[in-house]
Amino acid sequence: MEKEKFYITTPIYYPSDKLHIGHSYCTVATDAMARYKRARGYDVMFLTGTDEHGQKIERIAEEKGVSPKEYVDNIVVSVKELWKLMNISYDRYIRTTDDYHIKSVQKIFKALYDKGEIYKSEYEGLYCTPCESFFTEKDLVDGKCPDCGRPVERVKEESYFFRLSKYGDRIIKLLEEHPEFLEPASRRNEMINNFLKPGLTDLCVSRTSFKWGVPVDFDEGHIVYVWIDALSNYITALGYGSDDDSDFKKYWPADVHVVGKEIVRFHTIIWPTMLMALDLPLPKKVFGHGWLIIDGGKMSKSKGNVVDPVILCEKYGVDAIRYFLLREIAFGQDGNFTNEALINRINSDLANDFGNLLSRTVGMIEKYFGGNLPAEQEENPLNEEIRAFAAKTVEKTEEYYDEMLFSDALNEIWGLIRRLNKYIDETSPWILAKSEDKKAELAGIMYVLAEGLRIVSILTEPCMPNTPALCFEQLGITEDTLKVWDSIHGFGLLPKEVSVKKGEVIFPRIDVKKELASIEKEAEKKAKAEEKAAKKAEKQKKKEEAPKEIVIDDFAKVKMKVGVISECKRVENSDKLLVSQVKIGDEARQIVSGVAKWYSPEDMVGRKVIVVTNLKAVKLRDVLSQGMLLAASKGDKLELVSVSDDIPDGADIS
Ligand code: ME8
Ligand code: MG
Repeated sequence: MEKEKFYITTPIYYPSDKLHIGHSYCTVATDAMARYKRARGYDVMFLTGTDEHGQKIERIAEEKGVSPKEYVDNIVVSVKELWKLMNISYDRYIRTTDDYHIKSVQKIFKALYDKGEIYKSEYEGLYCTPCESFFTEKDLVDGKCPDCGRPVERVKEESYFFRLSKYGDRIIKLLEEHPEFLEPASRRNEMINNFLKPGLTDLCVSRTSFKWGVPVDFDEGHIVYVWIDALSNYITALGYGSDDDSDFKKYWPADVHVVGKEIVRFHTIIWPTMLMALDLPLPKKVFGHGWLIIDGGKMSKSKGNVVDPVILCEKYGVDAIRYFLLREIAFGQDGNFTNEALINRINSDLANDFGNLLSRTVGMIEKYFGGNLPAEQEENPLNEEIRAFAAKTVEKTEEYYDEMLFSDALNEIWGLIRRLNKYIDETSPWILAKSEDKKAELAGIMYVLAEGLRIVSILTEPCMPNTPALCFEQLGITEDTLKVWDSIHGFGLLPKEVSVKKGEVIFPRIDVKKELASIEKEAEKKAKAEEKAAKKAEKQKKKEEAPKEIVIDDFAKVKMKVGVISECKRVENSDKLLVSQVKIGDEARQIVSGVAKWYSPEDMVGRKVIVVTNLKAVKLRDVLSQGMLLAASKGDKLELVSVSDDIPDGADIS
């Protein structure tokens, strides 16, 4: 029988900077769903990628002094590394700078133009470059971008427009008649009331003010609006508009687009409209997840509160991080990220509940049976209840996974873990172990625990892909047929003669106090290092900004005169500084200079010098200095600049 297909996507990321744990959140959730569907026998296509065009990227690259392509190439490497580290099982990775994508986007744009869905006019409006979005005056909050709070720019240019306005009613109908199209339900009302009911305006879909994007191939100078370019990825990645569109035929429409709540608008209004205009089927679902919040705001680089997923994974383990993200935050809602919450979850759910169940079970089988359970086993009165509990857990977990309610699914699985831990306490194996005639019953209890753990491992796999193998190893499970989803629909597939092998603790406990203190210390260290780096960069920038050539007026700003030194002595507590009294015509000044290494105070007296007279006075070692003496230096040689005796003090230098 041919497998049923399941096409799932993440948003394609702006490679505007390093990805943070907020980005990982969305991708981990999508990955969990993809893994679940694969486990359930679907032919899954899991697409992710990067959204590499647009003015924002062009500007960042320019600031860094590299070409946009060089810039994105670099970031894409680190994005792919991160997904590898986090066990993201994507089937395809699209880059919007890929040739095939560019060609297809051009075809899509042309097709829409030929159908009259896109027309040429003039645009005037307010644009937020970081968000790549247009706004009207009334959209703004305090005159700034309503999404990110940054300033917007007024732009006016000849542009192409997409006839979005004429689709408003069809989109409202879509949302109302197909409530499953947009989840969670709260987002549907937001779209209808805030965007659709007030009426849609046609969308400006080309720009001429920058170059980094897909060129409109029939009108030079026009660049396709980055959201048209980006949204198209969901079909171009499948070969739509290319010579081979077999994947498109196989996988489209998407079963679910997973997106963050701030881009739901693009996915439930613009995207379906584009598809309608192209006469293509619509995706079955858009799931708008919430944000990972830190310090009360959405995590973002510009707010300086990003949390590095690489560091987190290295510190606590990938599965612990994935577990935390999927368990702590109800998918669809916002959730707080704190180190404390993370460590508490690791300790209570992973170390105490799950880790302990495994080590207790394996430990007891070793202790009571030398590691090998006998085939001769007897029932404990509680076993039936545990089997029923496990069956119910599998059923409910599947329901939650089907709905992408990962937190509920994990909660359900942990219900079974806790039930099994309680079962150990209720059956008191350590007492049974004392009587030889209870050995068979004890073996039966151990078997229930091992089989329960096997089921738990398989249920957690979509969320925690590394963990099952660790459990299987300790439980001595090698048969592939015992590792697959189908094998958990009946309790008891595991052969009776279980052989265990004690291994390392799968989730080590963390000392909360110590860990939080060390995190704080690290954060301070990092902040200091960053401050230092910023200062250095600032200095470098100033240096670079200083003009290489100056004009005569710049030079004229510096006033210099000839002076003669009347008195000179060492500055107290300094072996570098001399303080001189300098007569400049009618004027007398005190000047500190760092020349003690080359001149003694006696050498200085009577010497003709060149003085910068309009330098702001400063105190050096608490001694006032009202100017500067010019000196020539190279290596460790230094000589004060002078004039011949023919020139009197007070003479101008120009
Ligand atoms: O929006 N918590 O890219 P993007 C949860 N290129 N999710 C977060 C988050 C946080 N703190 N920060 C970011 C784009 N995200 C477009 C998409 S799709 C055709 C084009 C999520 O890199 C965010 O909600 O700004 C979004 O879903 C995804 O990361 C990519 O964001
Ligand atoms: Mg964004």
